[in-house]
Amino acid sequence: MKTQITEMFGIQHPIIQGGMHFVGFAELAAAVSNAGGLGIITGLTQRTPELLAKEIARCREMTDKPFGVNLTFLPTLSSPDYPGYIKAIIDGGVKAVETAGNNPQKWLPALHEAGIKVIHKCTSVRHSLKAESIGCDAVSVDGFECGGHPGEDDIPNFILLPRAADELKIPFVASGGMADGRSLVAAMALGAQGMNMGTRFIATKEAPVHDKVKQAIVAASELDTRLVMRSLRNTERVLRNDAVDRLIAKEKALGASLKFEDIIDEVAGVYPKIMLEGTMDAGAWSCGMVAGLIHDIPTCKQLIDRIMAEADAIIRQRLMGFLTA
Ligand SMILES: Cc1cc2nc3c(=O)[nH]c(=O)nc-3n(C[C@H](O)[C@H](O)[C@H](O)COP(=O)(O)O)c2cc1C
Repeated sequence: MKTQITEMFGIQHPIIQGGMHFVGFAELAAAVSNAGGLGIITGLTQRTPELLAKEIARCREMTDKPFGVNLTFLPTLSSPDYPGYIKAIIDGGVKAVETAGNNPQKWLPALHEAGIKVIHKCTSVRHSLKAESIGCDAVSVDGFECGGHPGEDDIPNFILLPRAADELKIPFVASGGMADGRSLVAAMALGAQGMNMGTRFIATKEAPVHDKVKQAIVAASELDTRLVMRSLRNTERVLRNDAVDRLIAKEKALGASLKFEDIIDEVAGVYPKIMLEGTMDAGAWSCGMVAGLIHDIPTCKQLIDRIMAEADAIIRQRLMGFLTA
């Protein structure tokens, strides 16, 4: 399949693996890229720019295909060394960067000068238009269904994607709720040039996370995610567990007076415990509603090949069949 996204990133299939904290290590990024998609290393999971440089080098040893790095500009307890991370990306010869969170304008000249394509993740049409106006090359339009931070507008992809298509000139991929060939064809019908997946890629053989995390996704249904931190305007979609129930109870009790410090035990520093050690109730971790569509743990290649074969069959047989019946 050839789209503006496959052309822009030099990949075979229009499928991107979104940056994921303590999931997007070199193993997963390389596996996705080797399977013909665009794998993404999560920049801030590496504690320093030096460690990111090593992770990029490790990924390059595992694949000769293009891969990217995610840089997330979110409210964190201490501000990361962003200039250092940008330098590690440029020096590492990476040609794709997924930015998320705040406006990446400040970093675009350096990235573009190094020949890097920037895809900015946005949860609204207005942020997508802003990304276009500041010179981003593409947008990842992240609907309300998504795992992680869906923003505060709550617009699902059936509305958000065609709205983005009506307004944007730069290409975009659909993100949030994407799992299979049906998702890809639907996203493209709504105007996207490809799709971005997070949760689906966690439940793969190569994702270097504890098996309990993968099993939790397979066991979950579309009813099992919750939105937390809404009153802090930092809404996150997470998989329900004991820590999340505790967090929601605190949110209910404290209402508008809730502060980050009140929920620090449930959200700060919990990712390594969950993703690496498999301590599933250690805190709140991002997970999309798409868990309801995930029933197995294939390799990245099996997953991507299956998605492309399914998309092909939907277009050629099911959809063409309606026209020729
Ligand atoms: C466990 C997990 C961690 C994530 N961490 C990040 C992150 O650090 N930075 C970021 O931009 N997006 C992050 N995301 C969002 C994904 O990149 C992607 O946009 C999202 O998962 C898409 O929705 P889906 O899960 O329905 O596919 C994370 C998602 C998950 C599930």
